Amino acid sequence: MQSLPIHDYLPHASRLVYGCMSLGGNWQANGLQNEHIHTARQMIDVCLENGINMFDHADIYSHGLAEAAFGGALKQQSQLRDSMIIQSKCGIRFANGADQKVKRFDFSKDWILNSVDNSLSRLNTDYLDVLFLHRPDPLMQPDEVAEAFSQLKRSGKVKYFAVSNMNAYQIDLLQSACAMPIIANQIEMSMAQLDWLNEGVCANQNSMANIGFNAGTIEHSRLNKIQMQSWGSLAQGLFSGGDKTNSSSIAVQQTAALIAELAAEYQTSVEAIILGFLWRHPMKMQTVVGSLNESRIKACAQVENIELSAEHWYHLFELARGEELP
Ligand SMILES: NC(=O)c1ccc[n+]([C@@H]2O[C@H](COP(=O)([O-])OP(=O)(O)OC[C@H]3O[C@@H](n4cnc5c(N)ncnc54)[C@H](OP(=O)(O)O)[C@@H]3O)[C@@H](O)[C@H]2O)c1
Repeated sequence: MQSLPIHDYLPHASRLVYGCMSLGGNWQANGLQNEHIHTARQMIDVCLENGINMFDHADIYSHGLAEAAFGGALKQQSQLRDSMIIQSKCGIRFANGADQKVKRFDFSKDWILNSVDNSLSRLNTDYLDVLFLHRPDPLMQPDEVAEAFSQLKRSGKVKYFAVSNMNAYQIDLLQSACAMPIIANQIEMSMAQLDWLNEGVCANQNSMANIGFNAGTIEHSRLNKIQMQSWGSLAQGLFSGGDKTNSSSIAVQQTAALIAELAAEYQTSVEAIILGFLWRHPMKMQTVVGSLNESRIKACAQVENIELSAEHWYHLFELARGEELP
């Protein structure tokens, strides 16, 4: 197994991470059903059978039902807890039609501590391996977050701490107040969302003026051994037979065609080529994949067996970005 930055803390973490956002029905689901627990159990089994031992949650997924479904499955097989690495996130608050009128982010100590307690109770576990702050709160007080982290660490409720959707300076600011290391940063990175790469190769290119990724975040993570994790890694199936309603561009068609060609050449699945594109980057990212389809998870796991050549990687990059490199 290739050593990832996160292995300094969690030596057995798999490089593929199962994204649990679709568990528990959906965002409109009305209460936890047995079928949700059954599905969670099936997905846990297929992941563990295919070498995926890390599970990505958030307190908000399906408004708590994703964690509850997973926790229901874990209750039936509590011996599995030791072979899993569970991460969850907090810090996003939805409007609730009552005392809270707008969606907001909240990194206050009380909110963080309460969120973790609720996640632990839903997940049927005593501890989270990693707690992520979900989206940067502009009102963040680093000292207050540090206090919450220290309390969670002391109580044994959380082993490690991480962030999501943050840039390098936001991480440095938070880290300056925290005794414990920020070990990971989860950001959208895929063949459809290429800002993480375009940012580094597009100096003075006006056509790329709208890049939504903060300069130097990748390099900062490599310098500081912060594990990058990609969300949206499969681009929701855009290049592998999924819904193209929102994008029927020539670039998508050409990229999908090359992915299919390479899958045949490398004798692997299209998902393995799509994830292999992410894995080929030397930052050694972990990739979060969120499928409820068992055969898709097995297809993803095939990425372990391939390594794209630099020529193929650049060909995919050029087609996916829709124009030649500068
Ligand atoms: N930190 C953050 O802010 C953040 C934000 C969003 C998500 N996440 C995490 O990242 C995980 C993955 O995110 P994601 O679900 O947005 O991205 P994804 O893994 O790229 O896409 C998964 C979705 O795409 C569908 N899909 C994939 N290939 C398909 C195909 N060939 N045909 C049809 N459908 C296909 C899957 O459906 P099937 O179930 O049918 O396979 C599933 O609904 C989430 O579960 C969550 O854990 C984190």
